[in-house]
Amino acid sequence: MQGNFSYHNPTKLYFGEDSLNYLIDELKNYGPVVLLNYGSGSVKRNGIYDQVLAILKQAGKTVVENPGVMSNPTLEKLREGIQIARDNKVDLILALGGGSVCDYSKGVAASVFYDGDCWERFWLQGHQPDADQTILPVGCILTMAGTGSEMNAGTVITDAANSFKVGHVFDDRLMPKFSILNPRFTMTVPVEQMKAGIYDIMNHIFEQYFSDFDDNTSDYISEGLMRGLIVASRKAVKDPQDYEARSNIMWTATWALNTLIGLGKREDWMVHMIGHSVGAWTHAPHGYCLAAVSMAYYKRAMIPGLPKFVRFAKNVWNIDTTGMTDEQAAAAGLEALKAWMIEIGLPLTISELGATADMIPGITKGTIVYPAGYMDLKPEDITQILNESM
Ligand code: NZQ
Ligand code: ZN
Repeated sequence: MQGNFSYHNPTKLYFGEDSLNYLIDELKNYGPVVLLNYGSGSVKRNGIYDQVLAILKQAGKTVVENPGVMSNPTLEKLREGIQIARDNKVDLILALGGGSVCDYSKGVAASVFYDGDCWERFWLQGHQPDADQTILPVGCILTMAGTGSEMNAGTVITDAANSFKVGHVFDDRLMPKFSILNPRFTMTVPVEQMKAGIYDIMNHIFEQYFSDFDDNTSDYISEGLMRGLIVASRKAVKDPQDYEARSNIMWTATWALNTLIGLGKREDWMVHMIGHSVGAWTHAPHGYCLAAVSMAYYKRAMIPGLPKFVRFAKNVWNIDTTGMTDEQAAAAGLEALKAWMIEIGLPLTISELGATADMIPGITKGTIVYPAGYMDLKPEDITQILNESM
């Protein structure tokens, strides 16, 4: 481990089929008014909303509801939530949904007590709230596995009017105070969304794994997570009601992006930067946007990152590289990745997501580019990766 770091993750997790039972105890730690954020109706259809509302009532809370938090939450909806929280003097924000609702809730929590333009300050300029600014506490009841938002301080918001999607990682104060992870709650996620979540998890690991060449404990943990995810994803795609597989996917998602496996590393995140811009233009699920640009991106990264891609082939895909050159071994690893993506039914091109050639300049412009991982990309490289992903 060559880097210097401190590690602290304040989120308390409750995992498993009985995890919602612990909500009542958690609620005792907060004041009487709870802002309940949720999405476009799945939690009402599958009954989770009723269960949560009953617990909130039992705890004597005043519940302020904010439904309609859309997938890839918008700036407009963020501003609406901030106003609702201000008007109702909210004590706790409870996110009931997937990564979008969790991200959104953190965004509201960060902004309620900020007087200026939160979008400009936090998302565009990347500042943290001042040390003396009040931050509302957030709790998450997760219904979809993928983003890791349940145990990180990431908050991705889309300015729909300008087709611009921006993520901001807040400091520890925005980590959820607690998160409830019941794999059973993810069983009603449409299979297409489940697959998008699976690739999101895989790509979070890639973004932290494909950088540096040192012998690093974080990379061994990543390899274990990838191997487990490959096994679980195959089972879950065959039988989406396989609890064991779904629970492993949910738990892997949390560890893939709760800051642990990036420790001591530089990280990459350019597939996410390109994928966010593709998402802002196509409105396709986040994980699909990542999948669709990945092959073109990693074929390019493989050249400067050769030793790590050889290691990926051997340690993640169990490829016997005897007699192969390093280039052949690394390429075999990427072929194995591609075969797995096809097997579980992920898109390999952005045209499948509705992207057209005339969008490429706009997607390029909306991609935040910085030196990362093994490459120092320029906007023209992004355009080329997008063209190769068509
Ligand atoms: O809105 P509802 O009706 O709830 O439907 C949702 C939504 O349509 C549905 N769903 C969720 N749980 C369900 C369910 N349907 C049936 N049964 C259930 N149990 O699934 C759809 C997708 O949900 P969403 O929350 O949008 O998906 P996801 O968890 O993938 O979150 C995506 C957002 O997270 C951001 C993405 O950019 C995107 O905006 N990310 C956040 C990150 C973070 N905080 O660190 C990192 C990620 O890289 C990502 O960028
Ligand atoms: Zn992601």
